[in-house]
Amino acid sequence: MEIANTVTELLLAKKRFPFPPVLVPTMGALHQGHVALIRKARDIAGPNGCVAVSIFVNPIQFNNLNDLENYPNKLANDISICETEGVDLLYTPSTESLYAGNRSITINESSLSAQLCGAARPGHFDGVCTVVAKLFNLFSPIDAVFGKKDYQQLAIINRMVRDLNFQTVIHGVDTVREQDGLALSSRNVRLSVKARTQAPVLHKALKSACELLERGQKDVATLLKHVREHISQNAPLAKIDYIECVDAATLQAVDLLNHKSIIAIAVFFDDVRLIDNVELNPN
Ligand code: PAJ
Repeated sequence: MEIANTVTELLLAKKRFPFPPVLVPTMGALHQGHVALIRKARDIAGPNGCVAVSIFVNPIQFNNLNDLENYPNKLANDISICETEGVDLLYTPSTESLYAGNRSITINESSLSAQLCGAARPGHFDGVCTVVAKLFNLFSPIDAVFGKKDYQQLAIINRMVRDLNFQTVIHGVDTVREQDGLALSSRNVRLSVKARTQAPVLHKALKSACELLERGQKDVATLLKHVREHISQNAPLAKIDYIECVDAATLQAVDLLNHKSIIAIAVFFDDVRLIDNVELNPN
């Protein structure tokens, strides 16, 4: 595996591969969710293609300095995971090497970011778009892989690729879960023992909304009420931040399910905010 720490090293390393890479952008602290993305990238690239992973804790997507400073750094373990998974090229730039001190241009997304998690995190998705655009320019990937766990992020990257004519094909990978249904996240280790036993309720509530839809219930208010009640009855520690049903591509709220939508939720357990979602395909 080649490891590049600077733009110059990356551009040199890229030349040693005959094909453009399939890229998996991450912020490190890798877990099995990230591993699923890397494996998807290998499937796309084929045995002789190039799978590239970036690990960069992107300061401009953090609203809170404390979160940025406390973001887990597990680089040695991340490198060994990438090696085990057969990653060809790992890019781990410093902030100084990726961002000029007097940088003055960012990407602004003005519709999808106003919904869901973006509503409480002004500028977050602009920071995500800006760093992903930079990575796309540096790697010129033919394909890039993102997780559906961060559905809003995936939808916004798709919008950016469409609106700015990036030539990269975006692939979404299903959320990887613990056996009890809890979506894998680096935040899960911060849950108290009690909260950890209650947190799988999020996935169960979303699944039961799917079952209601399968039995013909297409009224969104009824489905959301069902999810809300399921969570509050089975997870007394849960403090619901939002439960919403939105169009899968535009992320605009829907009242009646007649095309592909998602129910997205964000729930606090103490100070740990967990997100999850489910795709609903009414047809
Ligand atoms: P990070 O949180 O490290 O996530 C990297 C990728 O892993 C994202 O595409 C995310 O959706 C995916 N992922 C995380 N948990 C997952 C799970 N349980 N199952 C499947 N995929 C999962 O998302 C970011 O980093 C950053 O915003 C980034 C896109 C790298 C830009 O800085």
